[in-house]
Amino acid sequence: MPEPQFSAAAVIGTGMMGPGIALTLALGGLRATILSRTGEGARTGLNKACAQLHALKENGLVDAAAAEEAAGRLAAAAELDATVPEVDLVIESGPENMEFKQGLFARMDALARPETVLASNTSSLSITAVASRCARPERVLTTHFWNPPHLMPLVEIVRGEKTSPEIAQSVHGLLARCGKTPVIVRKDRPGQLGNRLQHALWREAVNIVAEGIASAEDVDLAAKTGFGLRLPVYGIFEHADAVGLDMCLYIMDYIARDLYNQPKAPDLMFDLVARGDLGAKTGKGFYDWSVKDVEAVKARRDRFVIEFLRSQKNRSTGA
Ligand SMILES: NC(=O)c1ccc[n+]([C@@H]2O[C@H](COP(=O)([O-])OP(=O)(O)OC[C@H]3O[C@@H](n4cnc5c(N)ncnc54)[C@H](O)[C@@H]3O)[C@@H](O)[C@H]2O)c1
Repeated sequence: MPEPQFSAAAVIGTGMMGPGIALTLALGGLRATILSRTGEGARTGLNKACAQLHALKENGLVDAAAAEEAAGRLAAAAELDATVPEVDLVIESGPENMEFKQGLFARMDALARPETVLASNTSSLSITAVASRCARPERVLTTHFWNPPHLMPLVEIVRGEKTSPEIAQSVHGLLARCGKTPVIVRKDRPGQLGNRLQHALWREAVNIVAEGIASAEDVDLAAKTGFGLRLPVYGIFEHADAVGLDMCLYIMDYIARDLYNQPKAPDLMFDLVARGDLGAKTGKGFYDWSVKDVEAVKARRDRFVIEFLRSQKNRSTGA
């Protein structure tokens, strides 16, 4: 199979993730077409990507010339059958539904040139299963961006059982050139990499609240001001090696006996969902959202990530 050369891409989906993914590719030098089922939907997606580009420029993360070039590489289209044969990479970011993705990938597999890479942004679905109706599953993989995709550095590249390791490596190189921090996930397992870690933590956080060990507010404070503060620079294994594995083992083994370890979500989660306490969207979850503003919380998150990215950029340019 020829080595993929990436100069044109299509991104399917104009919801929360698609526009930021297209923008990432455009900033990396690719012509990026945002595909939707309607022309109006595609234009909405393009407008979202342009607004994100503007925010990157306003915050000093992209200079004016690079922003103008990236804007010129973004396009919108509603014709999937005409667009897919023209591109070197498709990233699908439509509904999280296996039937939908299997059908779409089978269709794209038939339309695309043999060397075109077909990727899904799926958060949870097996890419092996998504590719199961494709004649060329070796060129199908997951590129799991994190939300918001124009800001978050990580992209998990998940190889399905039949994905070519060389193709996964080419996509890794491409995403690094786009300014992202890609990692390769060698096995197609639930939760990929980041969500396995995140949900191991969330599971215990819910258990701590359910057991009355601490309040949800104090769990969040402990995460934000304790171990969470050093995670961006210290990682997990750097920390473990720095502390010493003998002490880590002692603590890990002692605590392991008391951690939540059932092969299902804690009952408290089932109870909250059954009561209709779904979080900010229903006004109540672990917090009372009638007195707390979710948009303000999200804006604070974005500001923090932007500041972090600016500090990284300044460090790399010596500014
Ligand atoms: N939202 C997140 O935080 C997040 C993070 C990482 C990955 N993902 C994954 O990215 C994908 C998209 O998530 P999202 O949050 O952007 O979803 P979304 O619901 O915001 O957007 C989905 C898009 O798909 C379009 N769509 C719906 N039916 C379609 C069809 N039949 N054909 C073509 N397009 C159709 C919708 O119009 C919409 O533009 C999912 O696979 C999701 O698991 C989401």
